[in-house]
Amino acid sequence: MVFKALFFLAVICFSAVLVSAENEQDPGLVMNFYKDTCPQAEDIIREQVRLLYKRHKNTAFSWLRNLFHDCAVESCDASLLLDSTRRSLSEKETDRSFGLRNFRYIEDIKDAVERECPGVVSCSDILVLSARDGVVQLGGPYIPLKTGRRDGRKSRADVLEQYLPDHNESISVVLERFGKIGIDTPGVVALLGAHSVGRTHCVKLVHRLYPEVDPALNPDHVEHMLHKCPDPIPDPQAVQYVRNDRGTPMILDNNYYRNILDNKGLLIVDHQLAQDKRTKPYVKKMAKSQEYWHKEFSRAITILSENDPLTGDKGEIRQHCNVANKLH
Ligand code: HEM
Ligand SMILES: *[C@@H]1O[C@H](CO)[C@@H](O)[C@H](O)[C@H]1NC(C)=O
Repeated sequence: MVFKALFFLAVICFSAVLVSAENEQDPGLVMNFYKDTCPQAEDIIREQVRLLYKRHKNTAFSWLRNLFHDCAVESCDASLLLDSTRRSLSEKETDRSFGLRNFRYIEDIKDAVERECPGVVSCSDILVLSARDGVVQLGGPYIPLKTGRRDGRKSRADVLEQYLPDHNESISVVLERFGKIGIDTPGVVALLGAHSVGRTHCVKLVHRLYPEVDPALNPDHVEHMLHKCPDPIPDPQAVQYVRNDRGTPMILDNNYYRNILDNKGLLIVDHQLAQDKRTKPYVKKMAKSQEYWHKEFSRAITILSENDPLTGDKGEIRQHCNVANKLH
């Protein structure tokens, strides 16, 4: 009896050792992954995001949009940040990435981190944490997020369109694509609330204005859009755009939901979100309650930020966020 118990104990201890050895190699994503290797990492990133925000408010919009464009395409691996090479096209240069900006400032954040802890903190964690800290700068909720992501080595430009919906995609397709990464209907509705800040260029809007005005649009808003986008075929060089949320353009809040219920959504997807019977109930609820929107937004951002990361010994810690490391 005693022998049997001891034997069991030994088995349990042994398997615990095995499990912990495995965990040591690859704990996956964890809270404060850099606590021993670079304890200041999260503070440095937060401070850089704050300083950049003071100089250029729109950097915070970019950090938030980056999280979507990187993490929704197969993996949060900072593949979005890679420049084109002779052999491969950058994700940044595809049509879906239109309007993405401020990439050079990501390097400022990376440089600040590298000065303290060279070669330790990944660009993918910087991408995710900068989005988190940007949300706070914009008046959104603070979202605790795990770290430990590593950087991919290749552009995912060739598959990007399978993951990122177009501006005029149907709600069915949008729900299906987010559903595949574990984000449910209220989560999708909450994420689109990101369109409460930033801008949309006329090239993505003119099809709702010319040759005739989309009758679904609020006439007051049409006047404003026509004023901002006077040409049916916008000059690609001209920086012509409409702000996503005319009410509180610089604040990440639930005003987006009131806008789309008022037929002031700029993109077809924004408009449809307030029409479709699957999404409309959540739109109404988020329009009424900032608190409910914060809760769902935080939950969805967390899931998005944990989409199939490279961890353990997969991938690498990039030296510069725009190029993969040279292999020796
Ligand atoms: C169905 C999904 C989505 C579609 C089709 C979509 C499409 C777009 C388009 C066409 C623009 C305008 C770009 C421009 O003209 O400069 C835009 C802007 C933006 N999007 Fe989305 N988006 C989607 C979801 C998201 C999500 C999930 C987030 C973040 C969580 C996000 C964050 C943003 C931000 C912050 C901007 C403003 C960027 C700036 O002003 O620099 N979007 N989006
Ligand atoms: C969406 O807009 C693009 C142009 O941006 C167009 O080529 C495409 O046919 C449109 N798709 C749908 C479903 O209307």
